[in-house]
Amino acid sequence: MSTAPLLEVAGLSCRFGGLVALHEVSLTVREGEIFGLIGPNGAGKTTLFNVISALTPPSSGRVLWRGQAIPHSRPDQLSRLGLARTFQNLRLFDSLSVRDNVLVGLHRFAASPLAAGLLGSATVRRRQRQLEQRALELLALVGLAEEAQLPAASLPYGERRRLEIARALATEPRLLLLDEPAAGMNPAEKNDLCGLIRTIRDHFDLTVMIIEHHVPLMMRLCDRLAVLNFGERIALGSPAAVRHDPRVIEAYLGSAR
Ligand SMILES: Nc1ncnc2c1ncn2[C@@H]1O[C@H](COP(=O)(O)OP(=O)(O)O)[C@@H](O)[C@H]1O
Ligand SMILES: [Mg+2]
Repeated sequence: MSTAPLLEVAGLSCRFGGLVALHEVSLTVREGEIFGLIGPNGAGKTTLFNVISALTPPSSGRVLWRGQAIPHSRPDQLSRLGLARTFQNLRLFDSLSVRDNVLVGLHRFAASPLAAGLLGSATVRRRQRQLEQRALELLALVGLAEEAQLPAASLPYGERRRLEIARALATEPRLLLLDEPAAGMNPAEKNDLCGLIRTIRDHFDLTVMIIEHHVPLMMRLCDRLAVLNFGERIALGSPAAVRHDPRVIEAYLGSAR
């Protein structure tokens, strides 16, 4: 059996011109855990997600997926690898229905034009119906079954965030990266989201990496957390360990001044 962690970030640095967005960040994410990333605005959290998902090349350092380098690849290659993410700024197809947004995530399971030629149209239609059924199951899981036929643009913000999660789940990821999924939600919605993320992790046997500003929520939700400040990993460990870390307290008090 391989003992390589699901994800390993080793000595990762990322510079934009003179700005150091990440400085020698190392961490590992274990299979099945909910791993949190917190830190003040501009700390480099989204940049770390961008490097992990091969959208931004690092200046130095490595990202390993089960011990292997992640190729700089197209989104469909990443989803084949088992990596899916949501974005801090939502990227939904506003004019498509809620259901069709999830179908976009399912498209790699659809019959290709070549297969359609070989299999015949009845088989292709059956496959399409299966995918539509799957989309509805995923929508039910995130609490949006009733909204399936509405245009995505008509959903309130909190529901749009849950739709993005359903679409990411459609690709059947092993690792789900969530960038501020609770942004714009009220306290009750945030609480529900916490439960949903746990349910998803258990139901799909997933690993989750989550960025979120609401520290008490993260303390409740995450198995382990890393704290970034000005691109550096200043703490890593259980919620209890991170909460009492003097560097973390300083970073947060510093940013509140
Ligand atoms: N593509 C980019 N070009 C230039 N600077 C960037 C780019 N992306 C992020 N940055 C800068 O890198 C720093 C970290 O940004 P980001 O990772 O978005 O922080 P966070 O998600 O923790 O708020 C910020 O100073 C930001 O302005
Ligand atoms: Mg960010």
